[in-house]
Amino acid sequence: MKNVLVTGGTGYIGSHTAVELIKSGYGVVIIDNLCNSDPSVIDSIEKITGVRPVFYEADLRNRAAIDNLFRHEKIDSVLHFAGLKAVGESVELPLKYYENNISGTINLLESVAEHGIKKIVFSSSATVYGDPDRVPITEDCSLHPTNPYGMTKMMCEQIMTDMQHAIPDTAVTLLRYFNPIGAHESGLIGEKPNGIPNNLMPRIIRVARGEAEAITVFGRDYPTPDGTGVRDYIHVCDLAEGHVKALENMETGGVRIYNLGTGKGCSVLEIITEFENASGIKIKTLDCPRRSGDIAVCYADPSKACRELGWKANRTLADMCASSWNYAKNY
Ligand code: NAD
Ligand code: WQD
Repeated sequence: MKNVLVTGGTGYIGSHTAVELIKSGYGVVIIDNLCNSDPSVIDSIEKITGVRPVFYEADLRNRAAIDNLFRHEKIDSVLHFAGLKAVGESVELPLKYYENNISGTINLLESVAEHGIKKIVFSSSATVYGDPDRVPITEDCSLHPTNPYGMTKMMCEQIMTDMQHAIPDTAVTLLRYFNPIGAHESGLIGEKPNGIPNNLMPRIIRVARGEAEAITVFGRDYPTPDGTGVRDYIHVCDLAEGHVKALENMETGGVRIYNLGTGKGCSVLEIITEFENASGIKIKTLDCPRRSGDIAVCYADPSKACRELGWKANRTLADMCASSWNYAKNY
């Protein structure tokens, strides 16, 4: 059996990917410092799959801890999810983001190189495109992130690319996710934000759970059909399947870059309506000015991933909203 190291594997996307990997016959080893997740996720992964992943509670900035893991586990490939991801916090605390995301990645790569591991997949983000050249966004659009979080993603992409050039038989895949939402159908894993969330779906859920009065709609004056911002929301389970496909297509060295999105744009008001239909709960809205730093429209051209990886997002917006609520109504 091939073993995959999943950094950040108790987090939102990492945990769904761990489930998908186990279902596809991989052995899963997780490393996470639990700064934004809970150890009970390991139990949930075991409940869903019948297999308990090996878990190391450790920080990627601790090189000795990573080396220790590689000495004890036979690892074939690494999926690197671990990192901080809150855009607003990254503007207030840029050094925290550079320190965690860049130092953690460099430590991991040094250890990966030393232990002769040849396959690494990195969680990048559509945020690297900033205000995009055009939509749908293709992988060759220019990169100009507009906040420290996005800068860490672009820098990590560059660091991994340079490392691959120095060790040419290494295979590096950079996956640029669009807007992941949804949860596993079991309702046992999902996105559980720490404190007050910034992203749209967790904020809709706060309203549905009665924890907030109304959802703030940031801007009704965008040049979009209903005036609200348009994004490419993708089900986290489709994203998880994309990682398995990426792993299956890494037999030779090189750097590969793929957008993981649906290719369809959806407005804030459309998401709210879909959520209301899926949950049966009325979501009160409050019109607010545009949020600073937001762009009008962002959606992927995912055709490269379809062509080269044989991957396509299949789940609908209704699936995304229903599964998000199925998870969130219970926590
Ligand atoms: P998450 O916060 O749920 O998961 C990240 C995990 O990494 C957490 O469990 C956290 O405890 C862990 N972690 C953070 N720093 C660590 C460190 N130094 N050492 C060990 N563990 C550490 O986030 P997520 O939504 O699952 O995102 C996973 C990855 O995907 C991140 O790299 C994120 O930047 C990227 N991404 C996320 C989104 C999104 O909207 N969720 C979009 C694009 C890209
Ligand atoms: C979506 C839309 C808002 C909240 C962010 C990061 C990106 C990536 C995904 C990690 C926008 C509107 C939101 C609210 C609203 N993460 N909105 N009211 O900004 O597209 O992307 O998460 O890599 O890097 O920037 O996602 O969910 O915050 O916003 O009207 O209360 O919802 O204006 O149009 P975003 P989001």
